[in-house]
Amino acid sequence: MPEQMYKLQCINCNARYDTSQMIYTCDQCNDLLDVTYDYQQLASSIDTQVWRGRSFSVWRYRELIPIDSMTKPVSLGEGGTGLHKSKHIAESLKLKRLSIKFEGENPTGSFKDRGITVSITKAIELHAKMVACASTGNTSASLSAYAARAGLKCFVIIPAGRIAQGKLAQAIAHGATILEIDGNFDDAFKAVIELTKRNPSIALLNSVNPFRIEGQKTLAFEVCDQLTFKAPDVLIVPVGNAGNISSIWKGFDELHQVGVIEKRPRMIGIQAEGAAPIASAYKQKRNQIQIVETPETIATAIRIGAPASWKKALRAVAQSGGCMETVSDDEILHAQRDLASREGIFAEPASASSIAGLRKLIQKGAVDRDEEIVCVATGHGLKDPGIVTKFGNEPSKTRSDIKSIEKALGLT
Ligand code: F0G
Repeated sequence: MPEQMYKLQCINCNARYDTSQMIYTCDQCNDLLDVTYDYQQLASSIDTQVWRGRSFSVWRYRELIPIDSMTKPVSLGEGGTGLHKSKHIAESLKLKRLSIKFEGENPTGSFKDRGITVSITKAIELHAKMVACASTGNTSASLSAYAARAGLKCFVIIPAGRIAQGKLAQAIAHGATILEIDGNFDDAFKAVIELTKRNPSIALLNSVNPFRIEGQKTLAFEVCDQLTFKAPDVLIVPVGNAGNISSIWKGFDELHQVGVIEKRPRMIGIQAEGAAPIASAYKQKRNQIQIVETPETIATAIRIGAPASWKKALRAVAQSGGCMETVSDDEILHAQRDLASREGIFAEPASASSIAGLRKLIQKGAVDRDEEIVCVATGHGLKDPGIVTKFGNEPSKTRSDIKSIEKALGLT
């Protein structure tokens, strides 16, 4: 897509910026930016048959991705994840049409790869040689991999002792420079903002970078593609820093604006009880969040008290007629075990919160049993293997002779 086809626009004061330099917030009011298009002009370039002729991945939808068509993306084959029809969970909740979009199938095991492939490609278009992020784990795993692929120097700042082992292993393996700070994700995030402000040659790749959103919105494109260019009635997604719910809503909205889908889904965001500033604001009908100083939840990926994209998330929920809900750690674990042991989908705890939330929403009547429902499972369970000790399914030990084995298996 040529550069004159899109602009950056402040979500608060509507100030506009061109995209020849890397900026993340509005110079006038410091709020976040969105990439905006002339949708009428774009509509004529979109042909779903052409999309169908391309491989099923983020880059299938190039006409809606703000990267020059001559630029070769930094890619590891991201996107193209399965939309798995639920049988057992659907039956137990008496639902007609429930599917799980399993983002654990991405190259580094989470949805972050969608955002990173686009934003790192943009950073390279703008001549970046160094990239950085703060992370609860998955962003750092993804950025480390893509930076390695692109030959860029990568800095990741993480809260010491608070990210899952598998994610840390990924960042180590991919050769990132990793800094553990004494503090939580919110402190790490503040630090990386300051770092990239003071050192503008380092591109910031957290989801305040508007090009992250442009990659992550492809989840909505894929879901519609998988439902033969129809949107579901409801899409349920875990919320932490709130970039993803904002991205997915932008994706549905864009497909609607260019005339590919007739209606948009209700967006429902799920937060963990101990880290729920956006859900609290929603429930108390406030249009401002109150920061949670010491967020706590077993779902480390969404243990965030000061989410950067809260305003975009509340807007997505309001515009779509959706809602926000909270779930306890026990409800998350229960859903995680159900997904793994009854559907064959091993998702990490944060990812399972969408299913935990669905249970509550059905009970409350916020979602109808005959609606087309999509729950996003955002990351792979192998990221956080230690958690399964809480499932109560430890291996039993026995001798290696066949009699002992049969006895231990309850066959004799
Ligand atoms: N699920 C998983 C598995 C995540 O890793 C994250 C965020 C979310 C959900 C929430 O998405 O922040 O866009 O609302 N992880 C970030 C990280 C914060 O650093 O990896 P969000």
